[in-house]
Amino acid sequence: MNNKKLLVLAGDGIGPECVQQALRVVDWFGRNRSLAFDIEEDLVGGAAYDVHGTSLADTTMQKAVDADAILFGSVGGPKWDGVPRDLRPENGLLRLRKRLDLFANLRPATVFPALAEASSLKTELVSGLDIMIIRELTGGVYFGEPKEITTLPDGSKRAVDSQIYTTREIARTARVAFDLARQRGNKVCSVEKSNVMETGVLWREVVSEIHRDEYPDINLSHMLADACAMQLLRAPKQFEIIVTDNLFGDMLSDEAAMLTGSIGMLPSASLGAPDAQGRRPALYEPCHGSAPDIAGQGIANPLAEILSFAMLLRYSFDLVGEAVLIETAVERVLDAGLRTGDIMQPGKTKVSTGAMGDAVLAQLDALAA
Ligand code: IPM
Ligand code: MG
Repeated sequence: MNNKKLLVLAGDGIGPECVQQALRVVDWFGRNRSLAFDIEEDLVGGAAYDVHGTSLADTTMQKAVDADAILFGSVGGPKWDGVPRDLRPENGLLRLRKRLDLFANLRPATVFPALAEASSLKTELVSGLDIMIIRELTGGVYFGEPKEITTLPDGSKRAVDSQIYTTREIARTARVAFDLARQRGNKVCSVEKSNVMETGVLWREVVSEIHRDEYPDINLSHMLADACAMQLLRAPKQFEIIVTDNLFGDMLSDEAAMLTGSIGMLPSASLGAPDAQGRRPALYEPCHGSAPDIAGQGIANPLAEILSFAMLLRYSFDLVGEAVLIETAVERVLDAGLRTGDIMQPGKTKVSTGAMGDAVLAQLDALAA
């Protein structure tokens, strides 16, 4: 069997140091499970801008197209604040999403038992929480045209972003949510603002049709996005799977992440449609950003990046046992009381990025023994 091609784009800020720890886990599977990847590393974001004058070089884009999966760090930082928008670090990520047509963004909000008390909500509201947000990722207001700032005759300005959705874009996102619901929870909540937005009206209509025609076995509900934001804080465990558009998904997934006690813990998967051979473009990245304020100090939490690699094994290669092994190792590290600064609690042991990586490898060794 040919080795799977992994493209590693560590990016900016804490991206590289977190990716470094995840690569130690990749290497562990090579040594212990003869799971070999051909790994190629390249630049993205500000790091690419500094070298190539663009946040994603054409050669890198080609590698992304050719890869079986992409492990991504994070992009952005104040250093590139003055850079024009089409060259900004974030634009490298947005271009990857668009070019590879990574329309389905899976963002789990899982509460690890050892961290339930770190949530800003009462422990009983969040313990055992395990939500999956499916965010549409290549449409809506992020990409709709026109998108511009123009100058009016009186010298003042006018800014436009366009929220656009087609039946096809909504339907394929809904199917990802319903398919996943058949594996976990059997329950989907579709979220939009159909009370004020035409895209919301169409969203609700298409999701309802797909449900009626193809997934009548799934328990489907609808909720307005503002109500969903409120319900996530009031009673988060009512949700299993939330399916929503690009912008609402961006915001609700940050909110859901915070329920878990630390955004530093959460991975994500961005998936395209499988081709005729069943090969599916996919990018895996932590939900946290580049955290420039703590970059380079060796104190960042690498667990979201490591858990992103677990998602990669599960969703790109169907290696569920291997994914569970990583997730269990992470859980045990937390149970043993090890914490990076972002999830530090009284009485626990504060460790560095590298020591957290060491601990995960040690737990993998113990689990494999
Ligand atoms: C995310 C981020 C991105 C987004 C930024 C970096 C463009 O916030 O992945 O949620 O808004 O999609
Ligand atoms: Mg975001």
